[in-house]
Parts: sequence; structure tokens; C-alpha cells
Amino acid sequence: MTRNLIINGSPRLNGNTRDAATAFCREAPDAKLIDAVKLKLSGCLGCDKCRANHNRCVIDDDTAGAVEDIFEAQNIVFASPVYCWGVTSQLKQIIDKLYSKDPVLRGTNKRVGLILVGGAGTHDRQYETIASQFEQMCEYFGWSFCFRRFYSAGDPGEMKPADLEQLAALGKEFFL
Ligand SMILES: Cc1cc2nc3c(=O)[nH]c(=O)nc-3n(C[C@H](O)[C@H](O)[C@H](O)COP(=O)(O)O)c2cc1C
Repeated sequence: MTRNLIINGSPRLNGNTRDAATAFCREAPDAKLIDAVKLKLSGCLGCDKCRANHNRCVIDDDTAGAVEDIFEAQNIVFASPVYCWGVTSQLKQIIDKLYSKDPVLRGTNKRVGLILVGGAGTHDRQYETIASQFEQMCEYFGWSFCFRRFYSAGDPGEMKPADLEQLAALGKEFFL
């Protein structure tokens, strides 16, 4: 049973978002870290066949498994680089497939956090633009949107050590 879940949407396994996600889990050994890029993913086709398939996507790949992990988890962190003013396509494919479990996900009791890493400075409005989507998603499902953290980093290894320490402390608190 996955209680604490963090999904890393970065395709770079040596990247800043993964460093942030790893730091976040450091003090929470039971947390499950999913690297979206390692999964076989596909986008929602809007076929609605999930409705007749016990609210599970009929495309038999890892996207459905990631959605099941989200369904099971109580505390979920979405971590993504900013790609073209949004999250990565890897993470978006997982989020779109939440549609498959919509009838059973709504009203579940979950706490959600968001970590974004972009090349632009943290005052760029792209970060709040993306965060407002997550805020709306949480409102829709009835989840608590507990925190958002924005970081500016470009090449791998550019996350500041002090920021990684703060993320570790936040992870310890969030993944109770
Ligand atoms: C396809 C692509 C699109 C990007 N778009 C943005 C963007 O819109 N805004 C931004 O601030 N940074 C953008 N970046 C920069 C990344 O967000 C930045 O390099 C980040 O550190 C990448 O995270 P990672 O190291 O975890 O892969 C983009 C990078 C790529 C490869």
C-alpha cells in the first residue's frame, strides 16, 4: 500500500527535479518515488472505455498503474520541470488519465504538494500559472493543496544545497 508518493515528471534522471524529489524523500524512507520517464506511458484517447472497465484505462501500460498509485496514496507530490509554461508531457499523461478514475477519486481524502523547477526566475508568472491548475485539480477532487515550491535551475546539478535541505525538511513533515 503506497501512502506517500512522489512523481518525478522530468525526463532527465540526472536533472534538477529528480534531485529535488530525492531530497524530498530523504527523511521518508517509506515514500515511493516514481520516475515518469521510466514508465511506458500513453495519453488519454477519450474513448471512455474506462467507464466499463472498473474505472481503469483499457490501454494496458504503466500509466494506469501510476493512476492506481495515486488512488491508493494519501500524500502525493507532483514534481516537474517547467516545459513550455506547463508540466512535462510525461507528467501530463499521468494526470490526464486520472479521468479514468474520476468517479472514485472525487471526494477522496488526499494531501497534495507541487514542486516546479524552471530555467526562469521564481517570480516568473509561469509558476503560479501551473500551480493554479493544480489548485483547481485539488478543488475538483476535494483534495487539500498543501504546498507549492518553485525553483530556478537549468543544467543538471544547479539546485542549491540549501534548497535541497529545505525540501528534505518539508518532506519529513509532509510525509508524516
Ligand atoms: C523542452 C523544454 C522546454 C522548457 N521550457 C521552459 C519554460 O517554459 N520555462 C522555463 O522556465 N524553463 C523551461 N525549460 C528549462 C527547464 O525547465 C530547466 O532546464 C529545468 O531545470 C529542467 O529540469 P530537470 O533538470 O529536472 O530536467 C525548458 C526545457 C526544455 C528541455
